[in-house]
Amino acid sequence: MVQRVVVTGASSGIGAATVRRFTELGYETVAVARREDRLRALAAETGAYVIQCDVTDEAAVARMAAEVRATGGASGLVNNAGGALGTESVETALNDDWRRMFEVNVIGLRNVTAALLPVLREAITSAASAESGAGVDAGHGWASIMNLTSTAGLASYPGGGGYNAAKYAAHAVTEVLRLELAGEPIRVMEIAPGLVHTEEFTLNRLRGDAAAASAPYENVTPLTAEDVARVLVGAFEQPPHVNQDLIVLRPVAQSSVFHVHRGPLAAK
Ligand SMILES: NC(=O)c1ccc[n+]([C@@H]2O[C@H](COP(=O)([O-])OP(=O)(O)OC[C@H]3O[C@@H](n4cnc5c(N)ncnc54)[C@H](OP(=O)(O)O)[C@@H]3O)[C@@H](O)[C@H]2O)c1
Repeated sequence: MVQRVVVTGASSGIGAATVRRFTELGYETVAVARREDRLRALAAETGAYVIQCDVTDEAAVARMAAEVRATGGASGLVNNAGGALGTESVETALNDDWRRMFEVNVIGLRNVTAALLPVLREAITSAASAESGAGVDAGHGWASIMNLTSTAGLASYPGGGGYNAAKYAAHAVTEVLRLELAGEPIRVMEIAPGLVHTEEFTLNRLRGDAAAASAPYENVTPLTAEDVARVLVGAFEQPPHVNQDLIVLRPVAQSSVFHVHRGPLAAK
């Protein structure tokens, strides 16, 4: 049976790469984001079903979930929509930036998860009734949830305040969800990437300052959106009872949030 996966934040970066990777492996996808023009371009390329939706708008998310259900349901969800705003200190930060980061990275993740859980359960039930087999897990359908957090959700750094707080919260919510869904055939996974060079992430964080936004990626080989997508989708490709509950993914040149080797890598 072909699996259908909803990917939020699919209009750029890791989300778009994830839709492409799922498509390559034969999955059906539902691509969700606010910018419909970008979603349409991705749909033309991949065949993704697209739904324009702001994940922070609970009513819009409910409509999105209804449309997913009406157009074939889903057995997978990737909560990828998110981002950072600003690098100010705790002392000088703008509360509106912090609110926006919490809204998209935490409330958005909760909105989408809550709205789609019943849809995922319907996929489990219909697959279970379509299949039969012996053994504890045979004959059941399965569902998968993957949350995009960050190494910023596992280690703090100066200037990270609001983003650290939001991603730590997303990490905590992921752990809570896994506990709350215990006993259901739903795996709850988290991928926490380090330095990833995507087109818009740092540009948005630094309020459009292109020169400053390119600096973190100079003289280093960071992860690409495709690298993250390959590992993320790989977790969906594992047998359904295998739950990669926390995947930490960094470029070789980055050994911690604080240690990025710039220049060529060489054996000592
Ligand atoms: N790049 C990195 O270094 C890095 C590292 C670790 C983790 N991450 C995390 O990975 C995820 C993707 O990052 P990225 O680098 O691919 O960033 P990106 O290119 O800026 O993509 C963010 C995506 O989220 C969508 N989005 C933002 N607000 C939204 C909202 N309210 N409703 C619906 N969609 C929304 C954006 O689309 P629209 O604007 O069209 O809505 C966009 O498609 C984020 O959660 C980020 O925090 C990134």
